[in-house]
Amino acid sequence: MTRHLITSALPYINGVKHLGNLVGSMLPSDLYARYLRAQGHEVLLICATDEHGTPAELAAREAGLEVADFCAEQHEVQARLGEAFSLSFDYFGRSSSPQNRELTQHFGNKLFENGFIEERVTKQVFSIDDDRFLPDRYVEGTCPHCDYDKARGDQCESCTRLLDPTDLINPRSAISGSTNLEVRESRHLFLLQSKLSDEIRAWVNKHQDWPVLVSSIALKWLDEGLHDRGITRDLKWGVPVGREGMEDKVYYVWFDAPIEYIAATWEWADEDPANRDWKSWWYEADDVRYTEFMAKDNIPFHTVTFPGTQLGSREPWKMVDYIKGFNWLNYYGGKFSTSQKRGIFMSDAIEMLPADYWRYYLLANAPENSDSSFTWDGFAGTCNKDLADTLGNFVNRILKFCSSKFGAALPEGGEIGAREDELAAALDKRLAAYNTYLEELQIRKAMQELRAIWVMGNEYLTEVAPWTAFKTDPEAAAASLRTAINLIRIFAILSAPVIPNASRQLSDALDLDLSETDWIDGDMLGQLKVLKAGHAFTIPDVLFRKISDDEIAEWEAKFGGSAA
Ligand code: MF3
Ligand code: ZN
Repeated sequence: MTRHLITSALPYINGVKHLGNLVGSMLPSDLYARYLRAQGHEVLLICATDEHGTPAELAAREAGLEVADFCAEQHEVQARLGEAFSLSFDYFGRSSSPQNRELTQHFGNKLFENGFIEERVTKQVFSIDDDRFLPDRYVEGTCPHCDYDKARGDQCESCTRLLDPTDLINPRSAISGSTNLEVRESRHLFLLQSKLSDEIRAWVNKHQDWPVLVSSIALKWLDEGLHDRGITRDLKWGVPVGREGMEDKVYYVWFDAPIEYIAATWEWADEDPANRDWKSWWYEADDVRYTEFMAKDNIPFHTVTFPGTQLGSREPWKMVDYIKGFNWLNYYGGKFSTSQKRGIFMSDAIEMLPADYWRYYLLANAPENSDSSFTWDGFAGTCNKDLADTLGNFVNRILKFCSSKFGAALPEGGEIGAREDELAAALDKRLAAYNTYLEELQIRKAMQELRAIWVMGNEYLTEVAPWTAFKTDPEAAAASLRTAINLIRIFAILSAPVIPNASRQLSDALDLDLSETDWIDGDMLGQLKVLKAGHAFTIPDVLFRKISDDEIAEWEAKFGGSAA
């Protein structure tokens, strides 16, 4: 048994997350946590809302709310949506917490003491009409690289280049639109990343088992040379720097956000201090294995910047052991986008269909080795074939038939033989592969094994055909039905990390009382005989319904599918 610390990249607070965010960090982190819990490991799955920064302030302004109130509200919305998608976070924190304030200031102070932060006088855009500095997205203007006229002070969305507010041509205030701007001097803290570069590289190089996507992005950044980064802003919303002469400044959102992984663990512990010890997970925690989940745009911050913060503190903080990075999930060729409201958002999705449809489809199509695309046809096809036909139909067909011919309990009589030995041997192989792929976080491959396990049940049923056997050899039909119902139990257990709600329905139907630590440790022949004759069952409601062509057409029209 190992202690597993797992974090999902923190969803930004500025709005409900889309399916791309879900599949790029939160959902796979949940899959992994559920799988490891089932192996009997001690697991701590941490997530939180990332609440600071100018996008939060601008979204609050658009909603007509104080930023603190906006964040409190949106945090609740995201927490409820996480629950609706059965994301089993042990804690869902907030980067605006007092714990994060304290830890962020702690890291800032340590880095300063250790010579990795220095103060510099910088030039910042100041709006005379708004009477304030305009950091990051508070300034808009024309990109000096590609001429895009709605580039923002931190980045150009068109050519994706990172920008400084003073780079923009024809700058204007995002608050008032005013062009009455000037450049003023302001003192800021700079993280001297270049001083840590060799150490960060040595640490990256120690992790030869990382996916290529992750290590190649890390090494590319290191090879291009780390720039010293301004890590403070002239803003009120954020973690106050808390240094003399810097009273009006806060840390930059990307400095405090990853520290929230630690702070959220502290928040978790504060809810039950007698039984929870956050430091044991993060400080001198050599017995902990730490895994992070994120989309590719987050990789530099988790392989270079945050590790730099940790190393530069010269304290023994737990650093990540394994990073699972994802490519993009595209929506009809383009990216899902929160700011452009393009694609399918978690709140829309959950109103259309229960979580398990989305969970299965997204995991089966996770953008692991390249970008993948969401299409309505693909979604409906996968759900209808794998979930409704292969899994759902199998369950309902057997239980209905058994109940009508033998009553609502596993039937007596007959014996299993060579066909079941063969089935068990094949299942043993599939289970071993499924376990391996889940352990290695090869998510698509794991989903293929799970589907193959469901398919084996169908193939078995087609061959032994209890409905025909019943007429000539009812004993043989009884033995096949017992086996098939035991397969339902196996499916319930093995599918639980992926489709926990359907799994619960199956567990209830078979009166199993499964818990999150149940798993199957091989010996499939034994597993095909766990439930004995006489064990009662009920017939569950349709597990997965079919999605109709009309619905697909309606959803395509509503969400701008093919037309986009
Ligand atoms: N909010 C960021 C994003 O959506 C991710 C932050 S992850 C953290 O891209 F570690 F920095 F918190
Ligand atoms: Zn540009």
